[in-house]
This record gives sequence, structure tokens and C-alpha cells, in this order.
Amino acid sequence: MSSDKKVRELQKRRKEVQQGGGEQAIQKQVAMGKMTARERIIKLLDEGSFNEYDMFVEHEARDFGMDLKILHGDGVITGTGTMGGRPVCIFAQDFTVAGGSLGSMHARKITKIMDHSLKMRMPLIGINDSGGARIQEGVNSLAGYGEIFFRNTLASGVIPQISVILGPCAGGAVYSPALTDFVFVVDSISKMFITGPEVIKTVLGEDISMEELGGARVHSEITGNAHFFSESEDECFDQIKALLSYLPWSNTDVPARKKVIQPLEKYNISEIVPGDKRQPYDVRNVIRSVTDGSDFFEIQENWAANIVIGFGTMNGHTVGFVANQPLVLAGVLDVDSSDKAGRFIRYCDAFNIPIITLVDLPGYLPGVDQEHAGVIRHGAKVLYAYSEATVPKITVIIRKAYGGGYIAMNSRHLRADFVFAWPDAEVAVMGPEGAANIIFRKEIASAEDPELMRAQKVQEYKEKFANPYVAAAKGFIDSVIEPGETRKSLLHALEVSGDKSVGMPAKKHGIPPF
Ligand code: HXC
Repeated sequence: MSSDKKVRELQKRRKEVQQGGGEQAIQKQVAMGKMTARERIIKLLDEGSFNEYDMFVEHEARDFGMDLKILHGDGVITGTGTMGGRPVCIFAQDFTVAGGSLGSMHARKITKIMDHSLKMRMPLIGINDSGGARIQEGVNSLAGYGEIFFRNTLASGVIPQISVILGPCAGGAVYSPALTDFVFVVDSISKMFITGPEVIKTVLGEDISMEELGGARVHSEITGNAHFFSESEDECFDQIKALLSYLPWSNTDVPARKKVIQPLEKYNISEIVPGDKRQPYDVRNVIRSVTDGSDFFEIQENWAANIVIGFGTMNGHTVGFVANQPLVLAGVLDVDSSDKAGRFIRYCDAFNIPIITLVDLPGYLPGVDQEHAGVIRHGAKVLYAYSEATVPKITVIIRKAYGGGYIAMNSRHLRADFVFAWPDAEVAVMGPEGAANIIFRKEIASAEDPELMRAQKVQEYKEKFANPYVAAAKGFIDSVIEPGETRKSLLHALEVSGDKSVGMPAKKHGIPPF
């Protein structure tokens, strides 16, 4: 048994480390509206579940006066705990200790907990709040980042990796979050950029604030680097808990089953989609009309909003939804929405989460801007991701499924397992107006009344092609269903896809159009 003296020494040592960078630095952190690293961990994990490791690690730097400095925990807290009763690994950089800067031992603490999370198959949560590479440690800090990036890549698709940006995340440091699955940011607190305002001023002579350059809104609305935006750290932690409730703990695990609740009556599927095809509607309400308890947990809500992605539950099981959003740009596919959908489809596939796709789009967005921004390369990501995915894949065509959009949005040709269409669905190379103008151009031009002729030809085209029955006659659509039959059809399709097993040709890996 340890002597009282030794126990007291341990307690004293612990207390010292727990003080982080000291009272003054903590006050500065609090004044910025931030929690301390330790508070964050305690708030996020189940009460009393945190076990800390490596709290007595010391840095090894000797240059620039570092030999005289004591950096508690070397600026990062690492350990394990539980969330919702399930085990997780966590690290939180402590900005009160040398600005949370990353030296070699700081990096080694992070890579050690990363190795543990991969070995034990549990999620890794990283809280980033750091001035970046510890300048005094030179290449040792760069090496540390490299070791982290390598492990992020190894763990990708095996365990969920979550990055929480709760302070600066500057320079190459941003690439660890970028390699992880989900990035959370908080208004006014999160800052992510490769080169900061000072460098921009020096090199380009431009003045820009950190917030404008890489604040939370920038990454939630413009760059798409962040997946979840919140107003406060508390709200952010609630979002993380909610996200984890949908995820399996690894690629060989299944998500915890939730209680089955019927969709809420206020989401009446027959009233959500207007009869007039030019009228937009919010596709998220269609999702809510079919999911258990009308639950829909949206991802990247404020970026590339012309496509909607997120998780819901069907019969208690997690399902990924990908849906064109007619409210924004008529739901077209473009550079950003293709990136957004393509990555999410791959996420669901890696973690064995079935995908339900809701289709209503006029095709890919036309224009020089999109062509020059690489819509060919980016658009191909959706085709690649759907084709490659071997999880159950179910499609519902709500209204328009035109051109490349029809093919890309999980068509039978990319190996959808079930394709349903509503009676109003139109599967065609393009919309009736555009089609009639092209194929009946001569007849329209030479008619006595060109407008009447145009209207007749549009009608003729609509009757022939703009319906679901031509595709259904070929077996490209399995079933034309009434809107009110959608939940029942989806639940059944999921039920009979439970043991889906398909192979891919033997290869090391494919070469997606990154
Ligand atoms: C060592 C650092 C540090 C760093 C901050 N500190 N960043 N120490 N290396 N990178 C220290 C400060 O010296 C200070 O120590 C304490 O942390 C708090 O920093 P402040 O500057 O007082 O805080 P604040 O005013 O809030 O400003 C935060 C900041 C600023 C904007 C992050 O500190 C800053 O610009 N830091 C440098 C950022 C940077 O350029 N990092 C390198 C990026 S390159 P004292 O002792 O005074 O309290 C990079 C390459 C990675 O990361 C490549 C990977 C592939």
C-alpha cells in the first residue's frame, strides 16, 4: 500500500498539472468566451467517466530558453471516457499552455491516443485550440504533425474521427481536421486558415481579419470545411452527442438501435410537394415525413444547400439521406453539391449505413463558371461514390430526374437496389420545353402559329417521355408508388436488404476523381 506521503505527492503533482498554464492564462481564455481544455472534456463526456493518461509527460525542447520552461501536460490533455455509455478516445489542446502549440511530446501524446482508438476500435474526438507548430521545436513539431496526418489516414473509414475547432487552428494544423470525418465549429471562437492575416498582409498587402479569413461562418457557408456550426461550446457538445448517436463505433460495428416512433402528423407527405412542378418545396420535410419520429440530423446545412445530406432513423436503424433541394438552385448538381454528396455517400458506405436518395433535379448546373471550376471532375465524384457503394441503396424519384442528374442520383444503372417513383415523376433527357425546342425546331419555326405549335410539341413530348412509365416499362424503375406509400416501401426495401452482399473486382483501391 502506498504511504500517505506518496499519495499526497501524487495529489500535489496532479493538481499542478491540472492548473494548465496558470491563473492568468486561464483568465485570458475565459475572457475570450472559451472553456478550458479540461472543462471541455468534462462537459463532453459522461459524468465522471474521464480517465487521463500521460499527464506527467514533459517536453524535451532545449533551445530558445525552452529548457527553463515547465509546460504542464505539454499543452494537451489525452484520455478515454464514455459518451452515452460507449467508450471514446479524446484529446484536447490546452491553449493556456504555450498557446496549445504542438511540440514533439505534445504530438506523441496525441498519436498515442490515436493508436489506442484505432487498436480498440472506438471513435476519436480531437479538440483543437492551438497556435500551431511550436516554433521553438522546429522540425520536431513538423514531424509530429506528419505522424498525426498519417494516423488520420490509417483510421479513415475504420473508426469515426471527429474534430472540434475551439480556438485557432492555423497553418498545416488544419490538415488533421480536414482528414477527419466531421468538423465542428463555434461562432466567434473557431479560426482555421493555412496562412494567417499577417502573412497575407506581408505577401499580398491585403488587410483581413481572422474572422473574415477563416471564422466559423466562413467554413460552414463558403468553404464547406466544417460540417456543424453552433453559437456556443455547449451547443456544439450537444451536436457531437447527437451525431454519435447515429454512428457505429467502427466499420465492423452497427449503430445502436433507437426506439421506433411513427413520423409526426404535421409532415403529411401528400401536402409537402406542390402539384405545379415549377413550385419549390423543402425536401427536408419529405425526409421528415418518412423517418421515425420525423427525425432528421442534417450535415453541412449551410453549405451547398442545393443538396441535403444527413442521418435519420428508419425502424430504429440509422440511414443516410441524400436529397436534391428544390428550394435552392432548383436542386441542381454543381461543383460543391457534388463534393458534399460524394463524400457523404462514401462515409455511409464505409460504415455500412444504407443510403436513401430522393431525386428532384433538372440536371447539372450549366455555365462557364461551373465548367471552369471543374464540374466535370467534381460531378464525377457522385457517379463514382454511388457506383462504388455496396451498402443498400434505395432511390425515390419525386418529380424531375433529367439527364445526367437522373443517372447520377443513384439510378438503377449505378446499381441502386430499389428505385421507386411517384406518379408525377419525369424521367427524360431534359425538360419538355427544352426538348421540344430542340427536336421540333423546324416544325415550330415554319408553323403559322409558332407558339401554338411549340405548346403542342411540348405536350406531345410530355405525354411520350415525361412520366415514370417509360422507365418503369424497361425495369429501370421497380415500382411507381403513391406518395403516401413511400415510408412503407422504404421500410420494406430496407428490411429485405439487411444481408446485402456484393463484391467488387479485386484491386488495391480505385482512383476516384478527387
Ligand atoms: C510557440 C506559441 C505559438 C507557437 C502561440 N504561442 N503560438 N508558442 N509556438 N506556434 C504562445 C505565445 O508565445 C504565448 O506565449 C502564448 O502561446 C499565447 O499566445 P498569444 O499570441 O499571446 O495568444 P493570442 O494573442 O490569443 O494569439 C493567438 C495566435 C498567435 C493568433 C494563435 O499566438 C499566433 O499567431 N501564433 C502563431 C501562429 C503560427 O503562425 N503558428 C505556426 C503556424 S505554421 P506566452 O509565453 O507569451 O504566454 C504551422 C506549420 C504546421 O503550424 C505544418 C504542419 C504540416
